[in-house]
Amino acid sequence: MKYSKYSTIIIGSGIAGLYAALKIEQQVDLPDGLLLITKSKLGESNSRYAQGGMVGVMKENKADSTASHISDTIKAGAGLSEFNTVKYISEHSDEVIKDLLKFGVEFDRDENNNLCFTKEAAHSVRRILHSGGDATGKMIEKALCRKVQENENIEVYEQTDAVELLVSGNECKGVLVYNDETQEYETIYSSAVILATGGIGQLYKYTTNPVGATGDGLAIAYNAGAVMQDMEFVQFHPTALAIDCGENRFLISEAVRGEGAKLCDSDGVEFMAKYDERKELAPRDIVTRAIFNEMKKNNTDNVYLNAACIDSKKLAKRFPNISQKCLENGIDIAHDFIPVAPAAHYYMGGVKTNLKGETSVSGLYAIGEVASTGLHGGNRLASNSLLECVVCAYSVAEYLKSIELKTPKQIDENIKSVIDKYTDEEIILDELDIPMMKKKLQEIMWNKVGIFRDEHSLLSAVDDLEHLKTEFPRSYKCTSREEYEFRNMLITSELIINSALMRKESRGAHYRTDYPQSNEDCVHSIITKGYKVPDYVK
Ligand code: FAD
Ligand code: SIN
Repeated sequence: MKYSKYSTIIIGSGIAGLYAALKIEQQVDLPDGLLLITKSKLGESNSRYAQGGMVGVMKENKADSTASHISDTIKAGAGLSEFNTVKYISEHSDEVIKDLLKFGVEFDRDENNNLCFTKEAAHSVRRILHSGGDATGKMIEKALCRKVQENENIEVYEQTDAVELLVSGNECKGVLVYNDETQEYETIYSSAVILATGGIGQLYKYTTNPVGATGDGLAIAYNAGAVMQDMEFVQFHPTALAIDCGENRFLISEAVRGEGAKLCDSDGVEFMAKYDERKELAPRDIVTRAIFNEMKKNNTDNVYLNAACIDSKKLAKRFPNISQKCLENGIDIAHDFIPVAPAAHYYMGGVKTNLKGETSVSGLYAIGEVASTGLHGGNRLASNSLLECVVCAYSVAEYLKSIELKTPKQIDENIKSVIDKYTDEEIILDELDIPMMKKKLQEIMWNKVGIFRDEHSLLSAVDDLEHLKTEFPRSYKCTSREEYEFRNMLITSELIINSALMRKESRGAHYRTDYPQSNEDCVHSIITKGYKVPDYVK
């Protein structure tokens, strides 16, 4: 097996990973160099598909203030947002966005060259920056990827999966990676390993997330002993295009509702006023449940979004990709209703971190969607995710600048035993039907651990998962990326189900029909390896 060492390793090439690489290279002393690894091609990620935009609490936007953004974020977060985290991220927004501009990111501007701000659900003012109309993620990624590729000091491994963190005691000393093309493993040592591996959408039958969102970072952090927080909180976006086209569903951005589109049934009857006075712009969890109720009541697979009330020229300019995608599916959004339904979209739970990105395992950091910083609480406010990615990447770079990075020199016995599991273990080379198993898992999660859950559905999901595990005879070592992803999906699903069972209340995106009220005590849920599963789960 090949061995190498770096002063810092970043795992993941979404916006969090790319921006962290650039900031760390700029500021941190890196005697052994900087490595960015990604299981995809550089830049392929959830980030690339972000549409609506990125919160920018900009000094020049006189209508806005950090106080207002903090208040909106905390209200949406259903009691679980951490004030200090929200404040820190909001207050750094102006600075990081101006830094992104320096890296070549271009946000849309008006005819006077002022930044354009749009509105999304539960924001009290227009404060969302966008780029390329509705291609914000792609435009940011493109600019950051270019800078990373131009930078000789950032080494990049593509098509390389992090499969296990190398931990001795409670210290992370590196990562074991697997290249799916060469099928080779490599042990990489480092005193700072930064997880930026994104979310979990692919655990669900319907999702807006691309194929790579399989919860890998969560599974390997959990295996390494990291404290995981609020794992029951999965955000379902209200309006994915209700047409299957491959492994995920195309998103119809909340910004379309922000610009005035209305939700209705097939006869054009609007229904949101029955559910919330903020109607289409109520927080995401409320709109999602309202749509799901309407679908159930009318026994339909979708409701409709009517954007025909928006000026057609504005629609085409503001939402070129959405217009095009719908047209490819025979829908002219300037005239036709758009069929929409909820889909798994974002993960509020994650590896618990502080504002420096530190996890409970020394030397292991987490940023972006894989982390749980306490910003989003039980329900993320739209467009806060990209902001969190960038601010937390900035702050982990600031922290690493302040410490000395000493690359571990020797492989100790604990780590050797981990590596041996991958080099020595004989595995049954039976062909496993992973696509079929994945489908089964996605059905279980969607039907039993979805928008509405209860004890009965969750316990049934526990049983189904146990059964599925018997069809997958792998514990550590696997034979392909597909298998590693499925291994990680099983681990992460189990954590979500058990956390959902343990939270006996409804809060934010976690809705228990058997416990529809919120508890008076509002506490984060915590899970670590070896946690005691309550008796009723067994
Ligand atoms: P990602 O962008 O998901 O990147 C993760 C990276 O890690 C990928 O490169 C992946 O290949 C790599 N990786 C994963 N596992 C491994 C492994 N085992 N080994 C090596 N590499 C690995 N948020 C907003 O704020 N505004 C929006 O408008 C918005 N729109 C969205 C639209 C869509 C369709 C989707 C899906 C999400 C949207 N979000 C939006 C959410 C936001 O895009 C994500 O939360 C955010 O981009 C996550 O960034 P990240 O860098 O943490 O992870
Ligand atoms: C959207 O454009 O609706 C997605 C925004 C987000 O997820 O923050």
